[in-house]
Amino acid sequence: MQDLAQSVQKLLGDLDALLVAHFYQKDEIIALAQITGDSLELARRASASPQNLIVFCGVGFMGESVKILAPQKEVIMPKLACCSMARMIDSSYFDQSMQMLQRLGIHDVLPITYINSSAGVKAKVGAMGGLVCTSANASKIFDYAQKKGQKIFFLPDRCLGMNLARAHNLKSALLGLDSPEQILRADVICYNGFCAVHQLFKPSDVAFFREKYPDILVVVHPECDPSVVELADFVGSTSQIIQFVRSLPLEQKVAVGTEFNLVKRLRAQNTYVLSSTLPECPTMNETTLGDLFEVLKAYKNHRAYNRIEVDTEVAKWAKVALDRMLELS
Ligand code: 13P
Ligand code: SF4
Repeated sequence: MQDLAQSVQKLLGDLDALLVAHFYQKDEIIALAQITGDSLELARRASASPQNLIVFCGVGFMGESVKILAPQKEVIMPKLACCSMARMIDSSYFDQSMQMLQRLGIHDVLPITYINSSAGVKAKVGAMGGLVCTSANASKIFDYAQKKGQKIFFLPDRCLGMNLARAHNLKSALLGLDSPEQILRADVICYNGFCAVHQLFKPSDVAFFREKYPDILVVVHPECDPSVVELADFVGSTSQIIQFVRSLPLEQKVAVGTEFNLVKRLRAQNTYVLSSTLPECPTMNETTLGDLFEVLKAYKNHRAYNRIEVDTEVAKWAKVALDRMLELS
């Protein structure tokens, strides 16, 4: 493992490549990454970096976002792992959703897509005057949307959409599940997508920890179900969770509701960090040190694979949606 890590470092140096990793990646990847962060930080910092070659360890939409924001860069990924939530909507499902809204007489919506979506979906949103958000800036994006006074169509994560609506005192409804009356009354209409990993946290887990340790703090990611989020003491993006937990005194017990690689690292610094289940994201865990070595070796030997490419027209509109987000962040 040590030899492989050294070989990866050598290849990164030879290629003047920037290794970027999301916090949910395995420890062996995080240990070598030059930049780690949440989705917003990674998109921003990797696209603004001086290096031309970006090696992105994360899920597909993350590498794709860097390529859209900085098309002149070469972005490669050791594994083209696709976040299962991002896979719940594509351009044609987006069009079908708009048609459903139109059949209900709703013609004026502001679409907001969570960054966990494909370039094709971002492009549809951008072309309609909408924008992207991440878990770190979603609240600001909602402030902006509220000022515009349009109904919001939020996709694909129903949990993030409903959690944001509640925090902004807005009414939400689920497209395809709630009645036409509820949809017509809603300020925020949510697409019915979700993160299978964050669905593992239940209100009963919060009740269990609170009963066992009455002074415990409960910290969760906003992809958790609203029934869990409303019981939590702190809700934030992966970076915000890390900052919050690190700011606590070491004796403070804290239960963290997010992916387990991140929780494990926090736990290494503070054994009072608890997690009810072993919520591992299968796609984030696909990337191994061996994959990283192979993709770099192939690139060096002019046999590059897993290069991120985005159709020019799709990239143009997806960039519009991403840029609108960055201007507001
Ligand atoms: P963050 O942007 O908070 O890192 O979240 C990304 C993600 O996929 C969480 O499941
Ligand atoms: Fe996607 Fe959920 Fe994994 Fe995040 S944790 S990358 S939302 S499947």
